Amino acid sequence: MRVCVIPGDGIGVEVLAVAVRVLQILRPGVELLFAEAGWDTFQRHGVALPATTLAAARAADAILFGAVASPSHPVPGYRSPIVQLRRDLDLYANIRPTQLRRQPPDGAAQYSFVVVRENTEGLYAGRERVEDDGATAIAERVITRHASARISRAACDLARQRATTLGRRGRLTIVHKANVLRVSDGLFRETALRVAAEYPELEVEELLVDVAAMRVAETPTRFDVIVTTNLFGDILSDIACIHGGGLGMAASANLGDAHGLFEPVHGAAPDIVGRGIANPMAALESVAMLLEWRSFTGEAERLRSAMAAVLLVGPRTPDIGGDAGTAAVADAVIERL
Ligand code: NAI
Ligand code: MG
Repeated sequence: MRVCVIPGDGIGVEVLAVAVRVLQILRPGVELLFAEAGWDTFQRHGVALPATTLAAARAADAILFGAVASPSHPVPGYRSPIVQLRRDLDLYANIRPTQLRRQPPDGAAQYSFVVVRENTEGLYAGRERVEDDGATAIAERVITRHASARISRAACDLARQRATTLGRRGRLTIVHKANVLRVSDGLFRETALRVAAEYPELEVEELLVDVAAMRVAETPTRFDVIVTTNLFGDILSDIACIHGGGLGMAASANLGDAHGLFEPVHGAAPDIVGRGIANPMAALESVAMLLEWRSFTGEAERLRSAMAAVLLVGPRTPDIGGDAGTAAVADAVIERL
């Protein structure tokens, strides 16, 4: 297996160092293609996602991505490399699972739910412009039937697969704001409902995004698979990750028909970079998702049980209530392996 490794900026570099060590233990023959991207790369080469990085990502069997630091002010020539990778490799499905850290009192053994976020269009289509000499800024929200259908299918397939694994009925929640965004989310809603109708074994419901945000915060256990558009999914999945222990625990997969990119949900975390306290668990769960996607299920299970054991008895990083550093957590996971 050839894995393209893109550490990026900030703590992306710190947590991917751990992820790579662990990957090499689980798959000793793995071939690693290191590639660069991000703000640091932009400052050195004038481009945030060099063509060589894109080529390495394309050539690999899977991509492991850390995090990049994107400035919030416009910088001429800078485009977010992760947004560009998702678009150029057509990684249309962003899969963001949350495993509840505090399990519900009703005893349901391990509860998890998944946000499936459309990854290529919506408000992140990159169609922004100014008019009126800069007094008006316009962002176009692009929703296509094609992208809505394939993300809905990915979500339904996932719900079906989870239902089989977990031995219960699958449930799909379609999240939109079609009462206000009648045209764009109207199309998303109608398409999602049409695709979901092909999966009669699933329980299907729809929720407006604001209510969905409240429910995700309040009663996460009512959800199984949520499918939604790009920006809504970005925000909802960050709310969701609170239940899993925060950003230091949240992993994600960006999947297309040809490629898969795995990354922690968090960013470059400039507030803690260099202090050696970044939680590597999100990056490690990204490795587990990568292994599972490549059908190395046994290795993924081994990693997850090592992580679970360490989470139970420590050491833990400060973001989840411990006082250990990245290296101590990494060593503990590796020792379990
Ligand atoms: P962030 O995710 O980097 O950090 C948010 C907060 O969570 C910070 O307090 C940080 O210390 C904490 N945190 C994040 N990951 C952690 C970990 N593994 N262990 C312990 N604490 C952790 O988001 P923020 O601060 O909004 O953005 C910082 C930079 O990252 C920005 O330039 C942004 O553009 C970029 N970013 C990149 C992403 C990506 O590459 N996919 C995603 C989100 C943000
Ligand atoms: Mg986000």
